[in-house]
Amino acid sequence: MTAIAVLGSTNMDLVTYVARAPALGETVTGRELRTVPGGKGANQAVAAARAGGEVVMIGAVGTDEFGSRLRTNLEHAGVDTDLLHTAAGPSGTAHIVVDDEGANAIVVIPGANGTVTALGPGEHAAIAATGLLLLQLELPLSTVTEAARAAKALGVRTILTPSPVQLLPSELLDAIDLLIPNEHEAAALSGCDEPHAAAEVLLRQVPEVVITLGPKGCLYAARGGESVWFPAPEVTAVDTTGAGDTFVGTLAVALGEGRGVPEALAWASSAAALCVQRPGASTSMPYRSEIDAS
Ligand code: RIB
Repeated sequence: MTAIAVLGSTNMDLVTYVARAPALGETVTGRELRTVPGGKGANQAVAAARAGGEVVMIGAVGTDEFGSRLRTNLEHAGVDTDLLHTAAGPSGTAHIVVDDEGANAIVVIPGANGTVTALGPGEHAAIAATGLLLLQLELPLSTVTEAARAAKALGVRTILTPSPVQLLPSELLDAIDLLIPNEHEAAALSGCDEPHAAAEVLLRQVPEVVITLGPKGCLYAARGGESVWFPAPEVTAVDTTGAGDTFVGTLAVALGEGRGVPEALAWASSAAALCVQRPGASTSMPYRSEIDAS
């Protein structure tokens, strides 16, 4: 079984379903509000566990009513939460608007995620015991950098989802093996709107890149090789929240199992396609048997 550590956020998603997202200054009437466990870190952990990985989650929840629900959700997925700390104060929340096309806009309030400011001996030991470390940018950047550098020094493969996108220091990028931005993040980080050009720029900083392109699939590029485009299954999306996280968590399991890049990307794309056909983040992530059958 692939052993994976995830250092990242755990949020309660407050999801509003609406025909069309409001413009600034505008009021619209929505259809429904749902509270769904999410957070890019927790989503990747759940996706990896459901895909068959042995997953440990490093992060924090708050002492509010969301905290225990978020922890239980991870535990139900089979994720080890011994290093998911409980910090005094509110849990992270994400305020999400999903429109009739399944597209979303998200505002994240870090809450307890912001208290993860350093790694202790337990966190270092957990990273050392795994083959892969998954990182995103919803925890303090200094902590993400510390974890990436520790993993790199130990020979643990590091995968970074650069979201929410921000300027990344070279101390962090130097410790990343595989960067997985979406097309908007790739453009912001590289200064190039065209994915092939963006990948070329990003490969100056990291050895491997996958740019996710939503329904258009993904672009894989590695230093010294040609970039290769992989299509996504054609499906009708009802909610794209967590699709990128599903892709990353599932891909990590496949790579950890030693599958080749084309097979791993196809498997991860199938998982993301299943995710977008269901509402919510962690609630929509498929199990291994479903991915295999799709
Ligand atoms: O990637 C989707 C996630 O982003 C949501 O679950 C939300 O919590 C935000 O972190």
